[in-house]
Parts: sequence; structure tokens; C-alpha cells
Amino acid sequence: MAHTIRIEGTLPGPKSKALIDRRSKSVAGGVSLAHPLFVASAQGSTLTDVDGNVFIDFCGGIGCLNLGHARPEVAAAVAQTSSRLTHACFQVTGYEEYVAVCEALCRLAPGSFDKKAVLLSTGAEAVENAVKIARKHSGRSAVLCFDHAFHGRTLLGMTLTGKAAPYKQGFGPFAPEVYRLPYPDPYRDLSVVGRLEQALMPHVRPEELAAVILEPVQGEGGFVVPPVAFFHELRALCDKHKIVLIADEVQTGVGRTGTVFASEQLGFVPDLTTVAKSIAGGLPLSGVVGRAAIFDSVHVGGLGGTFAGNPVSCAAAQATLQLLEAEIAAGRPKALGEKLRARLLAWQKKHPIVGDVRGLGAMQAMELVRDPKSKEPADTETKALIAAARTKGVLLLSAGTFGNVVRFLMPLTIESAVLDEGLDVVEACLPR
Ligand SMILES: Cc1ncc(COP(=O)(O)O)c(C=O)c1O
Repeated sequence: MAHTIRIEGTLPGPKSKALIDRRSKSVAGGVSLAHPLFVASAQGSTLTDVDGNVFIDFCGGIGCLNLGHARPEVAAAVAQTSSRLTHACFQVTGYEEYVAVCEALCRLAPGSFDKKAVLLSTGAEAVENAVKIARKHSGRSAVLCFDHAFHGRTLLGMTLTGKAAPYKQGFGPFAPEVYRLPYPDPYRDLSVVGRLEQALMPHVRPEELAAVILEPVQGEGGFVVPPVAFFHELRALCDKHKIVLIADEVQTGVGRTGTVFASEQLGFVPDLTTVAKSIAGGLPLSGVVGRAAIFDSVHVGGLGGTFAGNPVSCAAAQATLQLLEAEIAAGRPKALGEKLRARLLAWQKKHPIVGDVRGLGAMQAMELVRDPKSKEPADTETKALIAAARTKGVLLLSAGTFGNVVRFLMPLTIESAVLDEGLDVVEACLPR
């Protein structure tokens, strides 16, 4: 039994408390803080706060550390590159790191067609650019998205997002020409499956759609995995009406589900795929990859950004993608997913509050409900569970429109004994 966790006294400790106080005076109150702690350092799957408390991290900075905090090979690539080149702006002068990451993405992304890629900085920016490219290619403007989706905090990103509070609350008017359908959720609502085109009819003619965007497994929405039949139907609809199918793999990508991209396991090939979060081992980088013929519709100067595809982030991504391929070949993400899922399913048998266990690969979550029949969301209980786990040294994140899902985004490289130690803590905190 590993003894990774070290908590001394009550949380937050005095140094975190002082920083939280300073934060409240100068940092915008609109920025939330899931855990009232300040971090001093983090390594692998553990995080040490400024008071010296050591936590097992099941959040990974919201899924950005699939290969662990401060992975030495990534840290070395960052150090080497930043001592030589920190910025040039890829629209001003080229540098090899950008091209190498695009080459890797084109090789790794699903689809046997010719591919191209563009690099950006954030997930929301990748989403914005995927839609821009689809609009330019199709000459159409409408976009279809889904309930409970999360696509970022920019104007278009939040418009596409299907969760009003807190992401859209008071921030309208939103971008026009965005339509929405229910997202197939095997636990709550599969009404759209088998009648997708029919379901569209009250909203928009399919011939007017430039793009359909979806998360193959919803992240913020609570790790919802639709049936494979839905993806087949969606692909057929897009083929029939020449609609660009965009897979937003910002949270599902970079090995989280056991393959580099989740769509590989879900029986469809997207035209464009967005990627961000874990791609650069914790540094800001995002991208869009997909059909060269679609990318080639965009005029010179139509894409880019000052810091987009920064060389230090690109060097980190090169190291990350190389390591990721080795981790996947060794079956590590898949093994983690199986172990995690088995544990969650065992909890479901013993604890009626665990209404649903779901996910793909290592992207697993449990939905907490007050009653298995009515499925009333147990949101306050979820908050209490997360707070209790923190005081015992495990950092968890919630998800879901109703805030009643606990999602697990620990590094894919977490040591088995540390995983067990963390999961034992979570189990002990589950309401009985
Ligand atoms: C699926 C998905 N798309 C887009 C985003 C936005 O990414 P970012 O916060 O880097 O802008 C997120 C962030 O959680 C996400 O999960």
C-alpha cells in the first residue's frame, strides 16, 4: 500500500489561505477555483501545495497532463528549445517544430485521405478555426451542435456550448446560425438516434449546414458516450449533404480514451479534428487537423495567430506525442481504463447513489443520483464528496450540466499503487 498522500492540519493551510486572500483582492471574481489551494510543485500524478501538503491529482489540470506533471522528457524539450528560441511568429518566419507537430498530427489523425493541420493556442481557438475552415470550404454558415456540449469560452465557443450556467449566463447576444439537438445519452435520452435528419427539420435544412461539431465523448457534459450507431448516422448525414463533420477532441484526444483520438474507436472518421489540452504536456498549444482538400479552401492569411504554434509549446508537443505513442503501444491507457472502470462498477453495486458508470478507455466517470429510478441529480452530494476527498488528499473534478458527475482525469501514467491509494480515499468518501 503506497503512502503518497500527506496532509498536515486543516485545509487550506496558512500559506494557501494567505494567497486565496490576495487572490480575492486582485483576481477577477469570475475565475472559479475548484480547490481552495495554491500549488507549489507537481510531479507525475501528485501535487504539492504551498503548505507542503501532498495530494493525488485526479484532475490533471482538467485533462492536460495525460503523461503526468513535469514529465522529464517534455521538461527537457522545453528547456532546450526555450534557451534557443522562445518566439518568432510562424506567419513571420518558419521554424521546424511547427512543421514537425503538423506532420505528426497528420500521421496520427484518423482518415486515409491527405491531411493538413494548423496550430493555435487554446481549445476554443481550435474550435473557432475548425468552424471558420468549414464555412469557407462549404460556402455555408449554419453549424449544428449538441445539448450539454462544451466548446470553450469565446463568443462562438460559448454559443456552441450547451450548458447555460455558468458559461453563457448574461454573456449574450450569442453568435448567429448555431442550431442544437439533444446529445444521445444512453443513461438519460436517446431520442435523436435513428431520426437525426427528422430531428433537424424544425431547426435548419441540412443543405444549409456548413458543419456539425461534437465531442465524441462529452467532457464537461459528463463523459457521455453515444452508441456507435449514432456516429454512423451522423457520418451518413454529413456525406449526403456535404456537411463538414468536426470532432472536438480537445478533452478526448491525446490518448485519454486508449487511442490517440476517440473517433478511432467509435466507428467514424471526422473531416476535421480539434486537439488541445494534453498535446503539449501542460504547455498551451492546440490544433485542427483533417482533410487537406478542406484546408486548401482557405486563402493565404485567413488562419494564424501571434502565438499560435509557439516553438516551445511545439517542442513539448513533439516530445509528448512520441511518448504517447509508446504508452499506447504498451497498452497503458487501456489498462488504466479497465482498472478504473472495474473499481467504479464495484462501487455502483454497493452504493445506490452511483447511478451510472460510463466512459471510454481511461476517460471514466460516475453519475451520482438520489434515486436510481427518478435519476434526480445528487449535486450537493457530489460537491460534498469532492470536498471530503480533498481533505483526505485526493483532488477530484465534477462535470455534467447538473454538477452531479465525478470525472477522472488522472495522468495515464499514474502508478498502480498510487491509483489504488487515491481510489480507496474516494470510496471511503462515498455517501452511504
Ligand atoms: C471539448 C472541449 N472543447 C473545447 C474546450 C476549450 O478549451 P480551452 O479551455 O483550451 O479554450 C474544452 C475545454 O475544456 C473542451 O473540453
